[in-house]
Amino acid sequence: MTTAPTPPTPQPPAVYPDLAGKVAVVTGGSRGIGAETGRALAAQGVAVCLVGRDRAALFSVAESIGKAGGRATGAVADVTDARALERLAERVARELGPVDIVAAFAGGQGAPVPALELGEDRWRQVLDSELTSAFLTLRTFLPGMVEQGRGSCLTMSSSAGRRPSGANLAYGVANAGLTMLTSQLATEVGPHGVRVNCLAPSSVRTERVARQMPPEIQRQVAAQHPLGRLGEPADVASAALFLASDAASWLTGLTIDVAGGRVTS
Ligand SMILES: NC(=O)c1ccc[n+]([C@@H]2O[C@H](COP(=O)([O-])OP(=O)(O)OC[C@H]3O[C@@H](n4cnc5c(N)ncnc54)[C@H](OP(=O)(O)O)[C@@H]3O)[C@@H](O)[C@H]2O)c1
Repeated sequence: MTTAPTPPTPQPPAVYPDLAGKVAVVTGGSRGIGAETGRALAAQGVAVCLVGRDRAALFSVAESIGKAGGRATGAVADVTDARALERLAERVARELGPVDIVAAFAGGQGAPVPALELGEDRWRQVLDSELTSAFLTLRTFLPGMVEQGRGSCLTMSSSAGRRPSGANLAYGVANAGLTMLTSQLATEVGPHGVRVNCLAPSSVRTERVARQMPPEIQRQVAAQHPLGRLGEPADVASAALFLASDAASWLTGLTIDVAGGRVTS
């Protein structure tokens, strides 16, 4: 009798020497994928500003990075608020210096709502949270990168933006919009030496997802992925490191499905 092979799990990320000494802003850095990406960047020697609204969570992630020998600071800002982002940019410039990497990862408003029950307020709120936030974040930091003639921006879409899913309609539409935001911005800022790429994860077992998805459902969803497991925050962080680094110096405008092979419906 043959036993099913164990699916490969995330390995420690590669080392990207060019990242050391750079400055990154990671929105959604207080937990989940953003926190893991902040940790991974800091482990490469990047000075990281973690952004979110939960002060205690931000400072706990920053503290854990500091204990591991990295450099990180937490900044409270609502990324749907353009003025809060301006204040954030001033603070980052003052405390860390010019920004090389922006990971606009804040979001996560995909909870299912039947389309015909999705009210106008919720629609606008989800678009603000997922799509407008990324526009405002990149609009805030891109001018500095263009001026420096270098930089790497990452946006965060979702498999829900690649094909219809169980997430609410506004979330799917916002995430589909993020792939176009990424490719059009990449076209416009590429001539200035700045790259913009997007990650589109499928189900990633963050604390939020683990809380919302009972174990039996996790097993069922894992089985829907050709690689036989759910994603881990480290899977997304590894892809983010690669795209942020010079190893991806000729890649821009892409959306990468970090999805265990689940790239069709
Ligand atoms: N987990 C998945 O399966 C999955 C799959 C595809 C795509 N994604 C996307 O990946 C990103 C991270 O997801 P996650 O699962 O790691 O989510 P999470 O654990 O719920 O974390 C969401 C993060 O976004 C921050 N955030 C949300 N709205 C914000 C706002 N207006 N201003 C500032 N910060 C805000 C939260 O900060 P505070 O709590 O401190 O406010 C938190 O740090 C999201 O964009 C999500 O849509 C996730």
